[in-house]
Amino acid sequence: MNNLQGKHIVLGVTGSIAAYKAVDLASKLTQAGAVVDVIMSHGATEMVTPLSFQVITHRPVITQVFSPLAETEIGHVTLAKQADVFVIAPATAHVIARLALGLADDMITTTALATPAPMLIAPAMESHMFEHPATQQHLATLRARGAAVMQPGTGHLASGAQGVGRLPDPAAIVEAIRQLLGRGGDLHGRRVVITAGGTQEALDPVRYLTNHSSGKMGFRLAEAARDRGAEAVIITAPSAQPTPYGVRRVDVVTGLQMLDAVMAEIIEADALVMAAAVADYRPAQASTQKIKKSAEAMTLELTRNPDILKEVAAARAQSALLQNLVVVGFAAETENLLENGQKKLIEKNLDLVVANPVPESFAGDESQATFIYRDQPLKPFALQPKSQVADRVWDVVAARLRASIQR
Ligand SMILES: Cc1cc2nc3c(=O)[nH]c(=O)nc-3n(C[C@H](O)[C@H](O)[C@H](O)COP(=O)(O)O)c2cc1C
Repeated sequence: MNNLQGKHIVLGVTGSIAAYKAVDLASKLTQAGAVVDVIMSHGATEMVTPLSFQVITHRPVITQVFSPLAETEIGHVTLAKQADVFVIAPATAHVIARLALGLADDMITTTALATPAPMLIAPAMESHMFEHPATQQHLATLRARGAAVMQPGTGHLASGAQGVGRLPDPAAIVEAIRQLLGRGGDLHGRRVVITAGGTQEALDPVRYLTNHSSGKMGFRLAEAARDRGAEAVIITAPSAQPTPYGVRRVDVVTGLQMLDAVMAEIIEADALVMAAAVADYRPAQASTQKIKKSAEAMTLELTRNPDILKEVAAARAQSALLQNLVVVGFAAETENLLENGQKKLIEKNLDLVVANPVPESFAGDESQATFIYRDQPLKPFALQPKSQVADRVWDVVAARLRASIQR
């Protein structure tokens, strides 16, 4: 689900040199299907022209409270009423102070006072300005009033210095907006745990056994849960996937570490979705020194790793706290996909199994999933992006959670 489609984003751009990056942000939001109305401060118009935003958004850009458009097509509070999210990116130290004080001296601050929409602030400034107690105090005030404030990046600043104060990456700002829009979603207030990636089981300090899992399915699940309002935790084996904005990441390496992390995280969770490829076996003894080659052949002795979903099922049977935990498993198989999936559903007492054929659904961006339910006929889906499979999984989880409240 693309929760930006048709949403009305009001983007306030202020007089930071990073204002040029807001053009990219406006472009990303427009491409995702959002309606973007840009309001620029006077300072911002010194950095980039309103025309740049107008071309990208196909909408008039507002630069003044008292403008020819005012009170006809666009009144001074029209955008405030229409906004689903009000974003200020980049936010200067000056606008942050004005917002904290509740001034209404230009169209950005006037809209901020008039809008009931959630507000996202993406600061950008020199380190000393950002770290100044005045700026920090104003940001704390805005947070206390419910605004979401992004942490600026660290690195090269326009002055040539290194430090904190870079505008967060426009892609991260888009993710933060998606998270804010998710506040009204069907997983709002839910805590969900997702596992991802292929575990690594050490043979010696330089070698390990692993599999081809990329982690993509788990990360798409985490993003989709966040966009529906959930507090999402991803427990991941080594994966190149970047941490989605607003998702808590717990890094693990081995199957045993993943078991410990899952048991700790599910205690207060509403759902667990196990998309990780956990090694069934690990070397019986990992050598502390690098194994040297000598004989022509060598035999590895392997020992069974614990089955995490079975451990979860056992814990659920014993703990009242885990009674309502919704548990989803993934089955990746080269043969007998549905039989194996069905067996997994029953043996591990799962609410849903997502069965995927290998290699079609491994490592790539798409998956050909079949959903195996406890109480309904199975449902095959066509090959579709993993982000869409993720949303179908959360549809099932959200329905289960609703049903368990009614019980
Ligand atoms: C070239 C240039 C770059 C600037 N960059 C920043 C910046 O990144 N962050 C910031 O807080 N102020 C920056 N300023 C200062 C602001 O533009 C100034 O405080 C202005 O009053 C901000 O007004 P506004 O918030 O209404 O746009 C910059 C000024 C200049 C001349």
